[in-house]
Amino acid sequence: MLRYFIWTIGCQMNKAESQRLAGYLDSAGYQAATSFSDAGLVVLNTCVVRQSAESRVLGTLGLLKGLKNKHPNLEILVTGCFVDSDTEGLKRRFPHVDLLFKPGDYPELISWSQRRGVPVEQEASLPMTLSPCAFIPIIQGCDNFCSYCIVPYRRGREESRPLGEIICEVKELARRGIKEVTLLGQNVDSYGHDLPGHPDLADLLKALGSVDELSRIRFLTNHPKDISLKLIETVASLNKVCEHLELPVQAGDDDILRAMRRGYTVERYRELVQTVRQKVPQISLSTDIIVGFPGEKEEQFEHTFSLLKEMEFDVVHIAAYSPRPGTIAWQQYEDNIPSEVKKERLNKIEALQVGIASRINSQLQGRRLEVLVEGSKKGKWFGRTRSDKLVFFKDDANRLAQLVEVKIGKTGPWALQGEVVDNGDDHTRT
Ligand code: SAH
Ligand code: SF4
Ligand code: F3S
Repeated sequence: MLRYFIWTIGCQMNKAESQRLAGYLDSAGYQAATSFSDAGLVVLNTCVVRQSAESRVLGTLGLLKGLKNKHPNLEILVTGCFVDSDTEGLKRRFPHVDLLFKPGDYPELISWSQRRGVPVEQEASLPMTLSPCAFIPIIQGCDNFCSYCIVPYRRGREESRPLGEIICEVKELARRGIKEVTLLGQNVDSYGHDLPGHPDLADLLKALGSVDELSRIRFLTNHPKDISLKLIETVASLNKVCEHLELPVQAGDDDILRAMRRGYTVERYRELVQTVRQKVPQISLSTDIIVGFPGEKEEQFEHTFSLLKEMEFDVVHIAAYSPRPGTIAWQQYEDNIPSEVKKERLNKIEALQVGIASRINSQLQGRRLEVLVEGSKKGKWFGRTRSDKLVFFKDDANRLAQLVEVKIGKTGPWALQGEVVDNGDDHTRT
């Protein structure tokens, strides 16, 4: 039996692509393995957004080199953002790798599989997942070139998938039991600008809103400089679209934002959040922050800190600046904030956010919330609310893929605990 193992790090886009890779490999008769050591074929789906991610990739490549020495038949495939345009150079550096292909370059995978006589099916591109949630890339690449970011160099320019193709795919997934889709792009607000007739994300949401079997629609990531009033109003008006936005601010200081080339000011961002909260009162908001950008003064960091205090986000993803070769910031600025200072700033924001998230979540105590069950862990079912809160609960019945009503008990900064509301009716909506 041919067995494969897919190792995935990085963003949701990588997770989505790994689900698709699994679909391809299944179509060739492979079965999923549970670790590197019991697989005959391994795929590394890589990320290089920060040095820490790139180091993990290098470490894993080293580990696999050892494994291949012992088992020369082991096949190693590498995809994701580690694969740059110099694939020849990478092949020379890592001769134990059998195939390197760019993120989403399935034709390359297909022709490789044909050459070696275990062909994957050309049409097997639907994501493979046991959960009721699927990730759907709607736009590839990024045209923004934020000064710190390597993504546009590895993922190329923006390319939207045709509206009709996405609708067909979501309908098929819904028919197979998928209840929730998350539409993905580095900047979903630029969806459609390159398509005939220029449909936008709001148009896509409206079309997907009428797919009967589908219960929930999410999307990420939005860009504060591009998100439109039309989109916000669409979120407010469409029942199936969940009340959650990922709206990365990155910094709370105008000079840093300018050096980052983000294309908005703190004031503009503040107004945007006000509009969103006014139009969609139930909205939960996530953001991303980079601390220790080159030249970030204590006072500028304080501006970021006080913006976070003021905005009260549900979730904040914090990263320390990591210079990425080839980017504008890497060329123009010295990485001059000592790592201890970066660490200190990161910890300070983390501590602030634990308090904010604990407070926000504690307000949910006693509330009855709809949870879509994604799986089970340590004897408990888990899933997410519409506002993207992770909820755990115990129940003897098989709740996988059901929409259940859960009464929230204990809450913490990262997750909620609850119990199924059971008053004799079937609360699950299908
Ligand atoms: N397209 C999204 C996110 C892309 S990368 C956006 O526009 O926000 C995901 C996150 O990684 C970013 O939001 C940023 O906070 C972080 N990141 C990107 N490059 C980084 C770098 N060089 N150093 C530290 N964090 C970085
Ligand atoms: Fe990177 Fe900016 Fe594009 Fe996001 S919008 S992927 S941060 S360049
Ligand atoms: Fe990483 Fe590439 Fe995503 S660098 S964050 S996997 S787009």
